Amino acid sequence: MRPAELIRFKQSGRAITVLTAWDSLSASLVQEAGADVVLVGDSLAMVVLGHATTLPVTLEQMLSHTQAVCRGFQGALHAQPLVVADLPFLSYQCGPERAVAAAGLLLKDSGAAAVKLEGAEPEVVAVIDRLVRMGIPVMGHLGLTPQAVHRLGYRRQAQDPRSQEKLKRQALDLEAAGCFALVLEHIPAELAADLRAQLTIPVIGIGAGAGCDGQVRVTADLLGLTPQQPPFSPALIQGRQLCVEALKGWVSQQQAPHLAAPSAVPPTNTPAPPAPGC
Ligand code: KIV
Repeated sequence: MRPAELIRFKQSGRAITVLTAWDSLSASLVQEAGADVVLVGDSLAMVVLGHATTLPVTLEQMLSHTQAVCRGFQGALHAQPLVVADLPFLSYQCGPERAVAAAGLLLKDSGAAAVKLEGAEPEVVAVIDRLVRMGIPVMGHLGLTPQAVHRLGYRRQAQDPRSQEKLKRQALDLEAAGCFALVLEHIPAELAADLRAQLTIPVIGIGAGAGCDGQVRVTADLLGLTPQQPPFSPALIQGRQLCVEALKGWVSQQQAPHLAAPSAVPPTNTPAPPAPGC
């Protein structure tokens, strides 16, 4: 699957599905589920690495997890999902040169075919423009952008007319800079639907209503594995509870007194160890 195919999906009205993965096991699950795109999101900082925000995850960690994800796929390369890797915090905020080096490393040393980065400030648009001209496909991300948590928090974005106009302008800027798709996170559904109509690139929503060209979800959230479920991304199953119950069953089975007690083991003829000091 190539990025340009997602634009054809939009044109033909075929819904796009994006799921996150963080290692070979989760990658094999989402491939078998039939997701079009696998996102190695920097949410792995919180979901897998135990951080409180997405900010601490490093480029080296993103690379290592992206490599593991790509090792988890089966079958011919052209039949595998498109892999998009998140550019972590500080890998693109310091200018186009560092961004090209970071994104280039992810594409060169893993099976990722595209990167995602957050925001649309003029500096970010300049970075996207450079990445695209260097042959690196880019997915944009607007609305709730977790790397800006210290400025925006995790609340719903673009709630008033002024910020909605700003977000629309930013989305058009990202399309003009060459993004092949745009993630819209935790924004009003009407705004996302409006953007879907205005843009030629697909909009992929999470907490942005059903009127998008596709949907993206954090797989661990969908499976009910994360302790803090985002309110706009409900779980399909209570995976954590199911896993803990199954493991508890195994542990208590092992602890049941079904083995012979150690005292029942017949004594051996091994000689006594020499007394200390001899
Ligand atoms: O990091 C991530 O998992 C994401 C999704 C929430 C879109 O960016």
